[in-house]
Amino acid sequence: MSTLQTNTMTLIDNRDSKVYEFKILDATRGPSVIDIATLYKDTGVFTYDSGYTATASCKSSITYIDGEKGELRYRGIDINTLATKYTYLEVCYLLLHSVLPNKKELLDFDLELRHRSFIEEDLKRLINAFPDSAHPMSILSSSVAALASFHYEHLDMNNEKEYAEMAHRIIAKIPTLAAFAYRKSLGIPFIYPDIDRSFTENFLYMLRAYPGGKMKRTADGIEEIKAIEIKALDTIFTLHADHEQNASTTVVRNVASTGAHPFVAISSGISALWGRAHGGANESVIMQLEMIGSVDNVDKYIAKAKDPNDDFRLMGFGHRVYKNFDPRAKVLKDLQDQLKEELHLDSNLMEIASKIESIALSDEYFISRNLYPNIDFYSGVILTALKIDRPMFTAIFVIGRCVGWVAHLLEFKADAKSKIARPRQLYTGK
Ligand code: SDX
Repeated sequence: MSTLQTNTMTLIDNRDSKVYEFKILDATRGPSVIDIATLYKDTGVFTYDSGYTATASCKSSITYIDGEKGELRYRGIDINTLATKYTYLEVCYLLLHSVLPNKKELLDFDLELRHRSFIEEDLKRLINAFPDSAHPMSILSSSVAALASFHYEHLDMNNEKEYAEMAHRIIAKIPTLAAFAYRKSLGIPFIYPDIDRSFTENFLYMLRAYPGGKMKRTADGIEEIKAIEIKALDTIFTLHADHEQNASTTVVRNVASTGAHPFVAISSGISALWGRAHGGANESVIMQLEMIGSVDNVDKYIAKAKDPNDDFRLMGFGHRVYKNFDPRAKVLKDLQDQLKEELHLDSNLMEIASKIESIALSDEYFISRNLYPNIDFYSGVILTALKIDRPMFTAIFVIGRCVGWVAHLLEFKADAKSKIARPRQLYTGK
């Protein structure tokens, strides 16, 4: 019979042969963790893990990712099922409440978001104060932080009901703030939300409508928003809804851990998402495909991506967790094929993208580093076909991801053992 205890790991410090044991905590799915909460007290050393490549920052039951298998589940349900069989609003409800809504729950949730989709006139004036050239992401992160000022006094952070109401409020207002940011960046009048339209249709309406809420007139009649466009964008929102402890979600949790207003935590997440290594990659992918310009130039750029002395990277490729195809990229690739004819997707960009993909997936450099297309590699071509301007691509990511950030905020708040985020360091100074 082994003398080893079960569910612990033993650490031997070879400097003085001291032996330490640490508990192993098992997950309901995926890797276990070593509980090192007492490591420093017991051993006098910290762990070091730049970029947190092997560090679990919290316990969570919201989203599960298996990077080896290329698997993604929200509340245990596979992303392919959710993206093909449910609406984004049903997925939002699932992420917030752990279960899919019944008909009445969905209707109540939908109506509440519609009625909360308006923003205060003073906030509209604040957005108007930005220069016309302002990037929508700058306006979005600033206006969400500013929104905290409009909902501050009466928020009792320890009141579950008030906090949940705050959650619905920010999910409802983000599309309006994003649409206002877009129209401000063009210097054109804002279009107010229309409570007769669904969440996703309403967003496209606020982007496209003319003053008075009229849609574009053409010789063939009125250019109404097509059902296939709504379904495509709804699927994109679902695919972006949550993704475990990614960089921006970690920021949201860290800001919330100080007791700051939930809206400034969301605003911090928006700022973190903007980076091109993260959510900003979708905008960079299209810029890169347009820069490559033709399938004839692909080899040159693949060589640049492989050159260690060239900081050029293939945007939309690689992922910290997925060492296999990003399952969301697969859904988007299928969606591209479905929409190609009906939405007249840009076939040149698609040809360049598929040439990059086929070369990269057979090239030793990418294979040895497990570099596969991620969600950002395919979203841009579809967003372009939905007549969404490139500077709005990451704002689309924000609209989809907002519910994930809110779900993590609520989970953090509900955890009585949650602490302020305060990592240590390896000091290398004088
Ligand atoms: C998102 O975390 C999430 O879940 C994020 C996200 C979400 O839903 O929240 O999934 C959304 O952010 C998707 C990722 C979007 N970013 C991009 O597409 C930007 C391009 N990709 C890379 O910058 C990079 O792959 C990251 C940032 C995504 C991941 O970086 P890692 O895990 O820190 O990996 P690394 O930088 O250490 O790279 C490992 C090796 C390096 O080569 P060597 O030093 O070993 O020789 O792979 C190389 C890198 O140079 N490499 C690339 C590359 N990505 C990594 N080489 C060329 N092109 C690339 N895209």
